Amino acid sequence: MDRISKLCSYLDKCTTFADVGCDHGYCTRYMLKNGLCESAVITDISAKCLNKAENLLLGYIEKGVVSSVCCNGLEGVSEDTEQVLIAGMGGDEILSIFKNSFIPRNFVLQPMKNVRAVREYLLSNYAEITLDEPFESGGKFYFVIKGKRVGVPSKYGESQLEFGLNLLGITTKKYIFAEIIKKRAYLERNLNEETRSKIEEEVRFMEGVLNEN
Ligand SMILES: C[S@@+](CC[C@H](N)C(=O)[O-])C[C@H]1O[C@@H](n2cnc3c(N)ncnc32)[C@H](O)[C@@H]1O
Repeated sequence: MDRISKLCSYLDKCTTFADVGCDHGYCTRYMLKNGLCESAVITDISAKCLNKAENLLLGYIEKGVVSSVCCNGLEGVSEDTEQVLIAGMGGDEILSIFKNSFIPRNFVLQPMKNVRAVREYLLSNYAEITLDEPFESGGKFYFVIKGKRVGVPSKYGESQLEFGLNLLGITTKKYIFAEIIKKRAYLERNLNEETRSKIEEEVRFMEGVLNEN
């Protein structure tokens, strides 16, 4: 399954939906086509990217079901929005969006990197993380983090901070295994002692996680 279809399968039915950093707007189209939201806001920091979504969703914009805002992150999004998707950008960018605005009521995040930093920020702000797992598409792994601003604050162990909540999941195991292979290949290089022992330690840690679970 392609990344967008897989990502969309994590979205819930809601009244109001926002697609932050929407680019082409495919996720919003999925929500509307499937009757999963009554209205949507599409935002992008780039007018050129937003324009792609505006073209895709023109019919919905004309009916007043979709509104589009060219803005940084959540600046153009109401804090009351029931479900917010922020996908396909770096974890640091997602964090700067939250720090600049707010943690959404219900969020679906798909950071491309620095996933641990996103987890740590949500946990330190007492958000509830209800799902945090990788999915595989086109030979790559992507993490999805779902949760709520207000709820039962989540508790994570060290392994979960690195690999998500679902350590028993088959895709998580595949992801860790793939990471071990990458690190082992890296160890074949001519590394200095400090780097070598750091990577060996990381491999031992990952092997430990796989063996414990
Ligand atoms: C790689 S695309 C991902 C598009 C779509 N969300 C997806 O998952 O396929 C990243 C989009 O995020 C937008 N973007 C990056 N930083 C942003 C920010 N701070 N606020 C709004 N949009 C941003 C970019 O312009 C780009 O269109």
